[in-house]
Amino acid sequence: MKICMIGTGYVGLVVGACLAEMGHEVICVDNNPAKISALLNGQLPIYEPGLERLVERNVLESRLSFSLDISESVAQSQFIFIAVGTPPAEDGSADLTYVMKAVEQIGASIRDYAIVITKSTVPIGSSERIRGIIEEQLKNRGLTDLEFDIVSNPEFLREGAAVNDFLNPNRIVVGSSNPRALAYMEKLYLPLTSKGFPIVHMDIASAELAKYASNAMLATRISFMNEMAGICEAVGADIERVRQGMELDHRIGSYFLSAGVGYGGSCFPKDVRAIIQSATERNIPTHILEAVDKVNHKQKQKLFEMVVGHFGEDLKGLRLAVWGLSFKPETDDIREAPSIETIEQLRKRGVQIHVHDPVALQNAYQALGEENIKYFTGPYQALMDADALLIFTEWKQYRSADLGRIKSLLKQPVLFDGRNLFNPYMMKEEGFVYQSIGRMK
Ligand code: UDX
Repeated sequence: MKICMIGTGYVGLVVGACLAEMGHEVICVDNNPAKISALLNGQLPIYEPGLERLVERNVLESRLSFSLDISESVAQSQFIFIAVGTPPAEDGSADLTYVMKAVEQIGASIRDYAIVITKSTVPIGSSERIRGIIEEQLKNRGLTDLEFDIVSNPEFLREGAAVNDFLNPNRIVVGSSNPRALAYMEKLYLPLTSKGFPIVHMDIASAELAKYASNAMLATRISFMNEMAGICEAVGADIERVRQGMELDHRIGSYFLSAGVGYGGSCFPKDVRAIIQSATERNIPTHILEAVDKVNHKQKQKLFEMVVGHFGEDLKGLRLAVWGLSFKPETDDIREAPSIETIEQLRKRGVQIHVHDPVALQNAYQALGEENIKYFTGPYQALMDADALLIFTEWKQYRSADLGRIKSLLKQPVLFDGRNLFNPYMMKEEGFVYQSIGRMK
């Protein structure tokens, strides 16, 4: 089936490559010439495990192509996916500028029956707005008889596992009010449903909300555990033990139950705030979600508080090493990462910061520049003569780091661990001043 994917970011490029892998013919469109020319030269704009090989194979087998020409790509496709960014606006709502621009271009370009699919996370009610814009465009073109359908097909892709999550979905959610569109979507996803992966049909509003509700539930679990971690610190309990005592309950399970320095990324923070905004506009209270967001905002301050608690308010001249800039392992994405916010606060206090990350250095450099910061490609180089080490991201190489070497390189054996990588008792044995989340000092 012929597909036009509008947007070649974390969602669009992954979904486009995976749909091609499933046997469909996909044109990925972007309005950024640099991105398209890089893709045409086989360079990907994002780091995602397994994606490079997938793109290469499907381009070679002529199922996947890239274009700047949205009109022609839309005109020759039956499935038109909208996978452009929906960044948070000032008031917390999702900024739909890019979505609505793409929709206008779709309305101006479709020539036959087409299914317009929102893959980007859009606020509840967006699909009706999209329908109106396309109808307006068709009227202006004198094509009021041209039929099209709108479908909500939200993505449930984790960064760092997106290819796997798309090709092995827990569920495929399809929202539409038209059986014809649902039938077409069944055909589109047949390569996955034929392997037993479930597809769930529902109305559009429910599909749009199912995405938000899923992310909000996961974010709630994280903030809940971070709140429990605060209680552990006060009563001398260990959050990792508490977690073990909880996760064996099948109703609770073990996923998204790790306390830490808070959740980041381009989804949880944005989606929680967007639901709050959507509900508030309709005078619906969101006590739980507001608490989830508040707890997370506070949790991101934890390592900064540890630094001030240990070194005092005057941090001028201090040198601190930071391991982990990405918001989670296996990605180069630093959006809303706890590390970035903490680095900004520290360097405002005159702290010299030496940073390492396996893949996110470039993105961090673009975001932070060079003021009071030095970037290191080797984790141990960043430790030289530092007064303490702060760990924000649980990259595997940090978990297996050589503690003796860390201690010998630091000026003082002080380690603040935002992801509970090490055992507090062992760290004490090794002579570290060690602080982590929800556990003994
Ligand atoms: C999330 C959802 O998982 C995915 O389904 C949705 O489509 C997009 O948003 P992502 O943001 O890529 O995916 O990352 P995820 O793995 O969910 O982690 C989000 C944040 O939560 C990270 O900062 C991570 O460090 C944090 N986290 C995760 C915790 O603090 N504790 C946990 O137990 C799990």
